[in-house]
Amino acid sequence: MKTEVRAKFAELYGEAGSVYASPGRINIIGEHTDYNGGFVLPGAIDKGMVAEIKFNGTDKVRAFALDLNESSEFGLNEEDAPTEGWAKYIFGVCRELTKKGATIKGFDTAFAGDVPLGAGMSSSAALESTYAFALNDMLSLDFDLMSLAKVGQATEHNYVGVKCGIMDQFASCHGKAGYLMRLDCKTGEFAYVPFDPEKYGYKVVLVDTCVKHELVDSPYNRRRESCERAAAAIRKTHPEVEFLRDAKLEWLEDVIGEITMEDYFRAYYAIEEVDRLLTACSALEKGDYETVGKKMYGTHNGMSMLYEVSCAELDFVNQVAKECGVTGSRVMGGGFGGCTINIVKADKYDHFIATVQKAYKEKYCIDCKIYPVVISDGARKLV
Ligand code: GLA
Repeated sequence: MKTEVRAKFAELYGEAGSVYASPGRINIIGEHTDYNGGFVLPGAIDKGMVAEIKFNGTDKVRAFALDLNESSEFGLNEEDAPTEGWAKYIFGVCRELTKKGATIKGFDTAFAGDVPLGAGMSSSAALESTYAFALNDMLSLDFDLMSLAKVGQATEHNYVGVKCGIMDQFASCHGKAGYLMRLDCKTGEFAYVPFDPEKYGYKVVLVDTCVKHELVDSPYNRRRESCERAAAAIRKTHPEVEFLRDAKLEWLEDVIGEITMEDYFRAYYAIEEVDRLLTACSALEKGDYETVGKKMYGTHNGMSMLYEVSCAELDFVNQVAKECGVTGSRVMGGGFGGCTINIVKADKYDHFIATVQKAYKEKYCIDCKIYPVVISDGARKLV
């Protein structure tokens, strides 16, 4: 990927620039908890974005997306927003850095990625983190990684329209090979958690249904609004409840007459998910993958039945996993399509992969994709 980006950059703009990369992410458990002030357990993966960048002495950005074979040119002021959807991510990062006091100069850039788009592995966060990290480095802005993650998140909020939490950009910026990160999304505190499933006889694999999810203008923002309404209702009698993460299920029961059933189901899932994550985290520390797996199935059920962010294809793949004796399986990321994440005993792995590929093809007449998970480093300079 780096070679192609560099060749294209040379062809388009001549003299070489600096090259940066940022990864996509997986998340073991803790889904739709970030914007509820809860915990998440992501890890960066060996798939991501690579970009070459060089200041061009103008006040314009000239960008080229290799995967789409498309270019975009835009200025750096608020009114200069590009029309190409992908370029809005780069523009948004420049704008958000500017809002933090940085002076961004025009640059030439070309980029490519191997995080499958719309598969729930955070291709957009990888793109944001690449440019936030690169510009921070090239302009010696001195923002820490959490600030850069927040620049990516604000880009989603203000220039893309997805009211996402911090998980994806956090993971893309902070990732470390061999480690997951347990992040408290309310306080911003986090810890690196060693992750070596092979040592315990397990493999982690993603099954991509190839149903594309599109979070923009999607029910994603509505899920968030439901949770905020439920938290506000509970807060009336429990002022300490800033987020649903602070609430107890009994308190939710108390406001059942004040919120819609839909908001109630969303909030029920979100509150339960906080506990599931905490249990899974302590199990993981002991190498107890069976408990982690049980919690993952619990998450899937909640995301499917209560939070309603699964789809028929994801539920099917989850069911096949269960029938194959897969230890843990669930829809990963925002949902509405994309991947399941699966923890599989090494001796069941080949059988599971063969079975899910065959069954999925028979049922939906398309091939699912299989991605073995390799936990890798976060945002970095390559050249
Ligand atoms: C998307 C968002 C994240 C998070 C997940 C669900 O990936 O970008 O902030 O909310 O969905 O856990």
